[in-house]
Amino acid sequence: MSGGADVSGGARRDGERPPGSGYDATPYLPEHGGLAAYREAAADCRGCPLFEPATQTVFGEGRDDARIALVGEEPGDQEDRRGEPFVGPAGRMLRKAIEDAGLGDEPAYITNAVKHFKFEPAERGKRRIHKSPSLREVSACRPWLDAELRLLSPELVVALGATAARALLGSSFRVTKERGTPLPLALPPDGERQATVVATLHPSAILRSDDRERAYEGLVADLRAAARALAGG
Ligand code: URA
Repeated sequence: MSGGADVSGGARRDGERPPGSGYDATPYLPEHGGLAAYREAAADCRGCPLFEPATQTVFGEGRDDARIALVGEEPGDQEDRRGEPFVGPAGRMLRKAIEDAGLGDEPAYITNAVKHFKFEPAERGKRRIHKSPSLREVSACRPWLDAELRLLSPELVVALGATAARALLGSSFRVTKERGTPLPLALPPDGERQATVVATLHPSAILRSDDRERAYEGLVADLRAAARALAGG
């Protein structure tokens, strides 16, 4: 997957977060430019404290003319080390599910609601244990997701798991109840353009499920519903 070609334009490099400003990525956003300019600027984001222990920012990947944007929660351990979203076990399973749902040939852009890995060290050993981002961290990172959606203007957004679904559809959204249902999504900056959004379980939840086969079939069924929505049916 490749990013956009337009690297022109004015990343503001404010350095550290201004004191007392709260968590917010906005000061780090370039004033203009394409996905590549945004990716480059996001590498220096200090909009919330998650940048500090993380190895690097993991920005979205994919073509800037993609009709589909897939949004996860935050990068995991492997994504943090490699600097790319969904390259670990959850990502491998997601790619298979996309194929099985018939969306494999459709160029997609893949990103996360939060661009840094949040973790705590395991009590013993060197493992880093994933921690879900707080609401404050999700909203601090929101300007990056909004910028990605604005630049892509996708026809279909797939929200992978509760964090992404709530970021996009509001805090009362319940993935378990409303998964697989195509819904309208007003796109940034002003809602003038609309996409269809389909929420589904997070691939990591499928990997943790007691009945993995059934959970996987559920994911594929939701992605098929998304594929039908993309085809206009
Ligand atoms: N889980 C996510 O939500 N995103 C990733 O990039 C990897 C795992």
